[in-house]
Amino acid sequence: MKLLEKLGGMEKAAIKEAVEASSLDDLEKLRVQYLGRKGVVTTAIKGMKNVAKKDKPKVGKYINELKTKIDSLLKEKEDVFREQEQSMFENNDMTLPGINIDIGHRHPLMQTMQDIIDIFVRMGFKSVVTPEVETEFYNFEGLNIPKNHPSRETFHTFYVDGGRLLRSQTSTAQIRMMEKEKPPIQVVHAGKVYRPDAVDASHSFMFYQIEGFMVDEGIVFSDLKGVLEHFAKEYFGESVKMRFRPHYFPFTEPSAEADISCFICGGKGCRVCSYKGWLEVLGAGMINPRVFECVKYDTSKYTGFAFGMGVDRICMLKHGIDDIRLLYENDVRFLKQF
Ligand code: PHE
Repeated sequence: MKLLEKLGGMEKAAIKEAVEASSLDDLEKLRVQYLGRKGVVTTAIKGMKNVAKKDKPKVGKYINELKTKIDSLLKEKEDVFREQEQSMFENNDMTLPGINIDIGHRHPLMQTMQDIIDIFVRMGFKSVVTPEVETEFYNFEGLNIPKNHPSRETFHTFYVDGGRLLRSQTSTAQIRMMEKEKPPIQVVHAGKVYRPDAVDASHSFMFYQIEGFMVDEGIVFSDLKGVLEHFAKEYFGESVKMRFRPHYFPFTEPSAEADISCFICGGKGCRVCSYKGWLEVLGAGMINPRVFECVKYDTSKYTGFAFGMGVDRICMLKHGIDDIRLLYENDVRFLKQF
């Protein structure tokens, strides 16, 4: 009998759906679907009037049994869900506060470093990483800082075993990269440097520097100025001005220190710039031909510039942080502000 076959199929489907139900909501939907006023079973009962008289008892019995079966199946499953719900409430104190998950972010120093690198990378500089444990050659001699030369003293240095040292400046990358590559060369190099300075509000025995340099035929001082001015405006704001003061570095000649007009007071003088209107941000100059001799670059053909800046200082200026130690204490109450 076709109808019985159809009802058999329905029974199978109902059992499968009830087994798969995963919530009280699912069960309620099934109840409506099968036993509701317009439900499948109810519709089958209504259809009884079209069944041949002799088949009526058989079909009627089947439908009745089916109705009871589906009903008890749904009830059974409902009991299971209710029990689960109950035990969840009993075993858990729902009034306890939830677990707060702190979402981390990059350290303000790393944000500063990446922002600065990005600006130079957009100008075509290649970002490189070189070792923190160095030889005297890369940290000093290659950069025209011979042994016993007084300028060596300004770069207080930690020495480690085997005549090695913890680099005291990121200028080491000049020699490392120029040894490896021929001009044109355009590099930024960021990382940690170490100096045995007494720790105070503006000194740390470890801090971050970013070095940049460019070597090719015909590079002149105005290229250096253009690159650095573009950087200053990108990083500190369009209205920032830059000035260069003569200075001395063994590996650049001529050398300069560069200041930006105070981006807080616009140059009028305030607490941040110690009422000078200017903030010192970096050292720079034209690469000394003696450095080129060390890496066997043709000094009659190539010129270049280099600059170096302290990431910590720039980070502190940008965010108005007045003590470098805050950057290294890992106090989340401080770090969360950035
Ligand atoms: N290395 C220098 C320092 O640590 C900074 C610098 C880099 C100056 C490149 C000139 C050119 O003080």
